[in-house]
Amino acid sequence: MTIQKIIEYPEPLLRFKAREVANFDETLSVLIEDMAETMFDAPGIGLAAPQVAQSLRLIVVDTTQPGEDKQYMPLVNPEIVEHEGEQIDEEGCLSVPELTANVKRFKKITVRYRTAEGVVKELSSEDRFAVVLQHEIDHLNGILFIDHLSPLKRNLYKKKRKKMLEMEQESA
Ligand code: NI
Repeated sequence: MTIQKIIEYPEPLLRFKAREVANFDETLSVLIEDMAETMFDAPGIGLAAPQVAQSLRLIVVDTTQPGEDKQYMPLVNPEIVEHEGEQIDEEGCLSVPELTANVKRFKKITVRYRTAEGVVKELSSEDRFAVVLQHEIDHLNGILFIDHLSPLKRNLYKKKRKKMLEMEQESA
């Protein structure tokens, strides 16, 4: 397993609509394991393939139970097929450094996806886990959580991020 580099805003690859996974093979299994390792190392609670520069409809989410060993779940070609209610919770993103903000999401969702072996399954979730799934599925459509903020907040972050990058360049 290899820890992958996580690409960061404003990298254009984060804005592409990812393509469906068609081959449920060893290459996919390796990518899933690499993404899980990258997520736990970061550390994060979810990661989408475009964040490691793979334009594929694949996410991994942390499903570790308190006091137990690390566990994760891959969802291939996930789509939200049902949703209900609303919730507002704080989000951050490994590809959007130094920002957390409240985002409005569905309260409950049902996701249809394929396993790493290509088996179609459905999963219903709510609250925090539903937030993570919605955030990661957004990545597959080139959407970042900052897109859900007001234009004012988004522009403030754009400016802050530009400054951060300029300072990184100056000190390099
Ligand atoms: Ni993210």
